[in-house]
Amino acid sequence: MNDRRIRKAIFPVAGLGTRFLPATKSIPKEIMTLIDRPLIQYAIDEAREAGIEEFIFVTSRGKSALEDYFDESPALAAELDRKNKTELAKVLESTNMDSGAIAYIRQTRPMGLGHAVWCARRLIGDEAFAVILPDDVIAGQTSCLKQMIDAYQQVGGNMVAAMQVPKNKTSDYGILGATDTSQRIVPVNAMVEKPSPETAPSNLAVIGRYILSPDVLSALDGAGLGVGGEVQLTDAIAKQISANGVYGYRFEGQRFDCGSKAGYLQATVAFGLAREDLRDELMAYLYDLVPSQVLAS
Ligand code: G1P
Repeated sequence: MNDRRIRKAIFPVAGLGTRFLPATKSIPKEIMTLIDRPLIQYAIDEAREAGIEEFIFVTSRGKSALEDYFDESPALAAELDRKNKTELAKVLESTNMDSGAIAYIRQTRPMGLGHAVWCARRLIGDEAFAVILPDDVIAGQTSCLKQMIDAYQQVGGNMVAAMQVPKNKTSDYGILGATDTSQRIVPVNAMVEKPSPETAPSNLAVIGRYILSPDVLSALDGAGLGVGGEVQLTDAIAKQISANGVYGYRFEGQRFDCGSKAGYLQATVAFGLAREDLRDELMAYLYDLVPSQVLAS
């Protein structure tokens, strides 16, 4: 077997989603929709396109709607069939997962992203794996994770998706240090979680796609608390710089921060404009609306 094959992906979905209260009082943030597909569906589609076969969700209390979402709905499928709603039946079918392909594990205490990933260690075992943060939605020709897996086949080690961010935003991200950031694959020499602009080693930020060696899970064993009093994944990956190597991958595609309201709204507009069934109506609306808003401001 090719030892650089990536078969498993972890989806950390235990967060409380407080930025989207009151909606997240009763719906998990990952079930909120961009147009008509829940955020989690975009993450799953991306993973499937990249060849992932096992999907591991790290959940928490209040996330049962997420588990239900992945159950097949034979009654609904039969009803759509009966009414000859073939297109909708296909849409529904595209969300079905193979039996046994999904595992749910609970993070019993909110101790950060590093801790959430570590909770899945027994399901990962001793092989390299992917991590996808569903808040980061990435639109592009080829899925971001697929691009990364192709690059990982060449270089191995550990890989994180990377993107330049404005210098004043470094404290929102894990930030990479590197001597040459001009290539698509960037060898990393430092990784810092949420540094201030003054101390940040660069403005090349980690975006929520990772390919990690199982050594990262060992580094998370008994890991101390980092920034924000949480166990940080960034800190555990940083330990791999001198061991197996860490690479930033400057992906092709547009990333939307659906963990923020503004990013969510931008993604909704962009995905709406990309949809044939919505484009014309939405475009006409924006065409009328935007100039009047600009004039009024
Ligand atoms: C997490 C990671 C951070 C990364 C970011 C990408 O932060 O800890 O390193 O840059 O995701 O979205 P969070 O957004 O959960 O605070």
